[in-house]
Amino acid sequence: MPEDRTEQPHIVTCTAPVNIAVIKYWGKRNEDLILPINSSLSVTLHQDQLKTTTTVATSRSFQEDRIWLNGKEEDITHPRLQSCLREIRRLARKRRNDGDSGVDSASLSHKVHICSVNNFPTAAGLASSAAGFACLVYSLARVFGVEGELSGIARQGSGSACRSMYGGFVQWIMGNKEDGKDSLAQQVEPETHWPELRILVLVASAERKPVGSTSGMQTSVKTSCLLKHRAESVVPGRMVEMTEAIRKKDFAAFAELTMKDSNQFHATCLDTYPPIFYLNHVSQQIISLVHRYNKHYGETRVAYTFDAGPNAVIFTLQQHVPEFVHMVQYFFPPETNGADFIKGLPVNCASLSEELKQGIGLEPMPKGINYIISTKAGPGPRAVEDPTQHLLLSDGFPKKTM
Ligand code: DP6
Repeated sequence: MPEDRTEQPHIVTCTAPVNIAVIKYWGKRNEDLILPINSSLSVTLHQDQLKTTTTVATSRSFQEDRIWLNGKEEDITHPRLQSCLREIRRLARKRRNDGDSGVDSASLSHKVHICSVNNFPTAAGLASSAAGFACLVYSLARVFGVEGELSGIARQGSGSACRSMYGGFVQWIMGNKEDGKDSLAQQVEPETHWPELRILVLVASAERKPVGSTSGMQTSVKTSCLLKHRAESVVPGRMVEMTEAIRKKDFAAFAELTMKDSNQFHATCLDTYPPIFYLNHVSQQIISLVHRYNKHYGETRVAYTFDAGPNAVIFTLQQHVPEFVHMVQYFFPPETNGADFIKGLPVNCASLSEELKQGIGLEPMPKGINYIISTKAGPGPRAVEDPTQHLLLSDGFPKKTM
């Protein structure tokens, strides 16, 4: 009997990056469509260090849509997952009806199996939802043969996910339409624009699980008048200034704005009632360290930013990385003699002068930081052409080794 090709799953695998906002998104004007109260801007981190990989398969033989995340089957009925699936299928149907030959008509009526993993530990407390939803939407679009603007769909998975649809420096324009059609991400500059820029993720040893961003920002919108002021009167100007600083590769301007915006975001968290605390004593010590370091040299060499958790993300230029990393290692002595303390891009050796250590004048805080991931700006989502990299086997079920 000839083989029934329609029973063979159609499988695609893609990867997507994490992004870190330098002008923060905090607060929605529409919860269902995920429309923000202000625009935001981020840097896409390199996928060599941090990425999500997602495999999507469609087959006539699948009974229902299913999803496995980091080796465990999860509930596909989650409303945000459903929004992304529905919107991609809607777009595919529309394109097919418009006569787009790229759309895979057969698979449109098929169920999907989705399998997704991160190459960084969830315990690291890094926002994985942005990379996760970006990767999901990008992979679904590919399996159904849909091309073009997809950030509006990724946004409906998680707001910050729309920015992970592009590489380099990315803005999410808030838009003003009720249906959200103009609330999209757009690349400001590609990842090749500022090759000297380096990013260090300082993974702090968190003591407790912080309030999630979705519920945190809901309370902030309801109770913080500082957040309203920020969205209406501060962010519009900062978006312009930040875009300028990036275009001109003006590190001092970029760094100062990044730190001020992180601080204002955390101030709106404190202005939320009841207040939300994302920064802990380690975060505060990092803030002091950065300001003292910059003061010591009389110029802004390093910047910090913090999201909804205690991990710091540091921006600096390549030439300052070795000294700054060794300073972090000196002021936050790791548990195990430095082995594995620095992951990602290699960091050269550096010695710290007594003058610098004394100039900083902080008490070392042992074990405050678990490890550092050294990375840089990177590209947007990519398809993985090598079929051995698929996370689903040819029967459409996850590999057992996961
Ligand atoms: C502090 O995108 O995780 O990281 O849209 O509810 O999924 P939802 O929230 P999310 O919020 C991210 C908040 C932030 C700032 C930022 O990334 O801009």
